[in-house]
Amino acid sequence: MKIYRSEDEREMGMIAADLVAAQLRVKPNSLLGLATGSTPVGMYEALAELCQAGKTDFSAAKTVNLDEYVSLSPENEQSYRYFMQKHLFERVNILPRNTFVPDGTADPAVACKRYDELLDSLGRIDLQVLGIGRNGHIGFNEPSDDFPCDTHVVELSESTIEANARFFASKAEVPRRAVTMGIRPILYARTVMLLVCGEEKAEIVKRAFTGPVTPRVPASILQLHPNFLLVGDRAALSLLDGSMVC
Ligand code: PGA
Repeated sequence: MKIYRSEDEREMGMIAADLVAAQLRVKPNSLLGLATGSTPVGMYEALAELCQAGKTDFSAAKTVNLDEYVSLSPENEQSYRYFMQKHLFERVNILPRNTFVPDGTADPAVACKRYDELLDSLGRIDLQVLGIGRNGHIGFNEPSDDFPCDTHVVELSESTIEANARFFASKAEVPRRAVTMGIRPILYARTVMLLVCGEEKAEIVKRAFTGPVTPRVPASILQLHPNFLLVGDRAALSLLDGSMVC
């Protein structure tokens, strides 16, 4: 694990964007695994600026997103497809046909099967971007008794519903289910980069990356990844031993 510490959220986004841009420079046709949520917004903003300035190029890249709410269509402003269009895809020179998000409107079991077939056909993810939930989830892989390998339907935990209610008019509107990529393609990615900011994530960062590897804290499995980058602000990394941070 390599840890990058930023002063604040803005700098975290710029560090993360530089790492994605470096990946695209080395391998223009990279397959990027992408995440939603508030944490990566600054990274997408910085990537859009780099692309508009001609400093990075998405024209040969492909992307696969981690998850989507069951029942939300791409036109729904709370859907993750809508989020990606708004924050990244419409602002960079990526080809629409090269962007993939699980289908929230299909029968969930069918959507899962199709997404695994898609992942198999695309091959190994080059750089997987992740956030982390306050309960340690990655994607929507919630704490459970085992690490689910394949794309699956998940009942969102109460803490996730509460955390995500801020994006909806009310908590009652947050979908209860989502389709999420499993742990296998994440762990199989060549590089994994997890972004985290804010004091409220400091405790879970400590548990995930210095505690035991357990499906009760899904992100803890990243301790097994040979090329894992943790990019966090000072507050989120505050409970880690200073010697771990470079
Ligand atoms: P957040 O979500 O970036 O909105 O905090 C992260 C996550 O739940 O993975």
